Amino acid sequence: MDGIMTTTHAVEVRNVFKNYGDVEALHDLSLDFPKGELTSLLGPSGCGKTTLLKIIAGLLPATSGEVFVNGETVTGPGPDRAFVFQDFALLPWASVLRNVAFGLELRNVPKSEREAKAEKYIADVGLKGFEHKYPHQLSGGMRQRVGLARALSVDAQVLLMDEPFSAVDEQTRRKFQEDLLDLVQNENKTFIFVTHSIEEAVYVSDQIALLLPRPSRVSEIIRPGGFRHKDPDSIRRDSEYLDIVDDIWKSLRTYVE
Ligand SMILES: Nc1ncnc2c1ncn2[C@@H]1O[C@H](COP(=O)(O)OP(=O)(O)OP(=O)(O)O)[C@@H](O)[C@H]1O
Ligand SMILES: [Mg+2]
Repeated sequence: MDGIMTTTHAVEVRNVFKNYGDVEALHDLSLDFPKGELTSLLGPSGCGKTTLLKIIAGLLPATSGEVFVNGETVTGPGPDRAFVFQDFALLPWASVLRNVAFGLELRNVPKSEREAKAEKYIADVGLKGFEHKYPHQLSGGMRQRVGLARALSVDAQVLLMDEPFSAVDEQTRRKFQEDLLDLVQNENKTFIFVTHSIEEAVYVSDQIALLLPRPSRVSEIIRPGGFRHKDPDSIRRDSEYLDIVDDIWKSLRTYVE
């Protein structure tokens, strides 16, 4: 097939194994990420979520197995995918504006165009007025927003988000979740989202993949649906929502016992 597949899924992971020396991180992992949907990866710390995102991004080779993006084999990074890193990955010597515009700089977009785009996304993530600050002058949550603005500005089809909301307070997180859901609704992209929060996954996801502890593969796929944009107070009392959260909690707990 020369690595070409006909597909309705934006991203397909097929029988991926990943070893770091004698540490086996991923073991025969297969998973589909439908276009226009948000898929969350939920699993214990160290199970290989970041590893999987990096393999999809083409930043790390799989030991064996394949990843397809729009039917084409991934052999390295590409403009079709953008990564929001768990540890921000900002350039410490560059301003917020330059950091956000950096993805476009790598794609050789002219300076005035990339700065105009960067300014739009800086405003979208709520950082207007901070364009000329440096990463060390920002809080952790603000740095995460810079990373998010950078990923959005390159207009990639696939957004890989590694715990993008981990460094913010609950209220800000709620605001980010709403912003994310607006993006999912308005832009026909594929969102791949890592979180440690079961509640967050159930709230924002079209599908949730539960991952087994290392060496990881998918143990269960859940399609929660229907809770988006609901009032947070009513959700906390919604019995259907609570049942799904509880089921996931039980599944994850069986791994650590
Ligand atoms: N560069 C590396 N070299 C060696 N081992 C690594 C490397 N990166 C990750 N690992 C190992 O691979 C496993 C999976 O790591 P990974 O960072 O993908 O987990 P994770 O699910 O993202 O964890 P967390 O939830 O804590 O972020 C871990 O056991 C880790 O120690
Ligand atoms: Mg990780």
